[in-house]
Amino acid sequence: MILVTGGAGFIGANFILQWTAQSDEPIVNLDKLSYAGNLNNLLALEGDARHHFVHGDIADRGLLSALLASHRPRAVLHFAAESHVDRSIHGPGAFIDTNVNGTFALLETVLAHWSALPSPEQAAFRFLHVSTDEVFGSLVAGEAPFTERSAYAPNSPYSASKAAADHLVRAFGRTYGLPVLTVHSANNYGPMQFPEKLIPLFIANARGGMPLPLYGDGLQVRDWLHVIDHCAALRRVLEDGRPGEAYNIGGGNEHSNLEVAEALCTVLDELAPKEEGSYRSLIAFVADRPGHDRRYAIDAGKMRRELGWSPSRTFAGGIRDTVRWYLGNTAWVETVRSGAYRHWIERQYGPRSSGAAA
Ligand SMILES: NC(=O)c1ccc[n+]([C@@H]2O[C@H](COP(=O)([O-])OP(=O)(O)OC[C@H]3O[C@@H](n4cnc5c(N)ncnc54)[C@H](O)[C@@H]3O)[C@@H](O)[C@H]2O)c1
Repeated sequence: MILVTGGAGFIGANFILQWTAQSDEPIVNLDKLSYAGNLNNLLALEGDARHHFVHGDIADRGLLSALLASHRPRAVLHFAAESHVDRSIHGPGAFIDTNVNGTFALLETVLAHWSALPSPEQAAFRFLHVSTDEVFGSLVAGEAPFTERSAYAPNSPYSASKAAADHLVRAFGRTYGLPVLTVHSANNYGPMQFPEKLIPLFIANARGGMPLPLYGDGLQVRDWLHVIDHCAALRRVLEDGRPGEAYNIGGGNEHSNLEVAEALCTVLDELAPKEEGSYRSLIAFVADRPGHDRRYAIDAGKMRRELGWSPSRTFAGGIRDTVRWYLGNTAWVETVRSGAYRHWIERQYGPRSSGAAA
């Protein structure tokens, strides 16, 4: 049994689907279903006894203690977070609540549980913290990619909150001996990503004939990692990662936002052509994001050398598959954009519990 936090979100849900496709080991999925949590992502597992969904907050120590005591997971994989940089600029409080205080509550509760385990279970236990390359700040063109030894220099409230969580995780490993693992991953893309993020946003806007808003000059560079490759890397780290270590996970695909927009338009022009002209005519430059990092790049050599992992997807193939997925799953996109995906919470807890929709 493993316990996953934030498993109704983009990466967590992909991880659970990949896990259940490859293993019979059950999963407890603790997710508070923020605006980014969507149980439609896990519809394929309805009625599957291997997936046990629990609606709750990582900061709820009582709930978490009870889950740990009754399920006795051999590992906790911590995905739950507020994850959107733009939202962190407009409202950083929620990022401190979940990413910092929530992670702290989770660590304390897991530590109390772990400390009482018999030695063999203690030795086998893992706490895997899913972090980001954004904690390392921004690179200039030509500068060497981030390694696990790069200095922390977070620039947004989001990356600062993830950096704080990373430090707490590390400290719980060093101080109390909790067997922690941290991964820093590049920008993920793929199926079921909330359409506030660049790739699903641009696909949805393009299909709706709306502008594709690029910040500044559009030349900010990101390393793009297909979510399926990220999930495979997480499995490798869980299996053979050394407690106390950090691992960088990258796709080896550095592209500017403008290049990504153009690649999406090229695939859309082919798979779902507009009546007239190219989708490229929708690309629009807008005022830059404050504190916008110029470039992220990951050196994933440690993953390759120590764990034999490397990404399986090329950017061209991954983008093509991703566009195909969004074109083939318009109902999913519609329920997210309309807010209908939140009906599960309303059904369970009444209309006022639903909070803000997309
Ligand atoms: N998406 C990326 O490109 C990327 C890259 C690197 C690292 N990460 C990290 O990976 C993790 C998952 O990212 P994602 O893109 O899937 O995010 P997401 O926003 O799609 O999903 C986050 C999930 O966490 C849940 N959640 C939020 N607050 C919670 C709380 N207090 N208690 C319980 N559940 C809560 C949400 O309901 C949602 O299901 C995050 O920690 C993020 O920082 C993401």
